[in-house]
Amino acid sequence: MTSTTNTTNRTGGLAGKVALITGGSRGIGAAIARRLARDGAAVAVTYNASPEKAEAVVREIEAAGGRALAVRADSADVGAVRNAVATTVETFGGIDVLVNNAGILVHGTVDQYSIDDFDRMVAVNVRAVFVAVQEAARHLKSGGRVINIGSMVADRTGFPGVSVYGMTKAAVASLTRGLAIDLAPRGITVNNVQPGPTETDMNPKDGPHYDLVVNMLPVKRAGTADEIAGMVSYPRQCRGGLCYRGQPDDRRRPHRVTDATTASPPLPVADRTLIARRDTDVEQKCGGNLVAPEGVTV
Ligand SMILES: NC(=O)c1ccc[n+]([C@@H]2O[C@H](COP(=O)([O-])OP(=O)(O)OC[C@H]3O[C@@H](n4cnc5c(N)ncnc54)[C@H](OP(=O)(O)O)[C@@H]3O)[C@@H](O)[C@H]2O)c1
Repeated sequence: MTSTTNTTNRTGGLAGKVALITGGSRGIGAAIARRLARDGAAVAVTYNASPEKAEAVVREIEAAGGRALAVRADSADVGAVRNAVATTVETFGGIDVLVNNAGILVHGTVDQYSIDDFDRMVAVNVRAVFVAVQEAARHLKSGGRVINIGSMVADRTGFPGVSVYGMTKAAVASLTRGLAIDLAPRGITVNNVQPGPTETDMNPKDGPHYDLVVNMLPVKRAGTADEIAGMVSYPRQCRGGLCYRGQPDDRRRPHRVTDATTASPPLPVADRTLIARRDTDVEQKCGGNLVAPEGVTV
């Protein structure tokens, strides 16, 4: 099912731009869609099981004067992912920002994990990211942005039952670095936002690990989907694809190396507005991992 809205001229930092967010019907993806629409982009969202929620996101963006599109696309289906990119380009005349957000978490320890679940986790969380980037790269121009939604679990696992999920998110982190190098010559950056525990359907307050995980965090609370959306909004503000430490508007100070990903919980939080990034030459120039382990607000 596909629906579009076409209204008004937008004037934010993404005015005239087009963004595709996979898994934009609920949770973090829906918040990213609202945020990028507020920033001025025409926004396409994919969904799989929640058509009504995807339509509600479209209607909300439309009501605020934006342009939006909902496309059914199971991320496990290579053809559907390619079609979502093609439909976005056909409808809005191009694509400038791709956010690979759709993800699933099937819990289970090694003794009970099914191979079908393993394969679906890899297909949705990893293969779909590659397929979407491959398809979008045919249309992205210089200044284009790819932002993947990884997880801090790529670097640390604090409880049983998430080995396969963590593996998929580690794969996304590595894929991000490689794709950043592949696409840098074309002026396209690739970044990986790695949220910590964030309150959504995937990580509900009454879930089995919520209290355990939140208590490992210095701030003793989960992040919100809107906070992660703020992280996603950030890289498109980076001048020339370079990211800087500090508040989004503080572009005079080059960011300092801070690798929060190597620390064990509790995480060091010197500055809650800090965007901690691994700092290699390549990543400075064309992308890398943005770590938001404690629900960073930007
Ligand atoms: N919540 C956290 O604590 C947390 C922490 C770190 C990273 N993350 C990551 O953040 C991303 C979003 O997570 P969330 O917490 O917002 O999860 P969520 O509330 O469960 O929402 C998942 C979204 O992905 C979509 N989706 C799921 N399977 C799909 C498929 N096969 N094809 C297309 N879309 C699909 C869902 O759409 P439908 O309902 O329409 O299928 C929904 O819009 C994921 O990549 C997740 O791994 C989450």
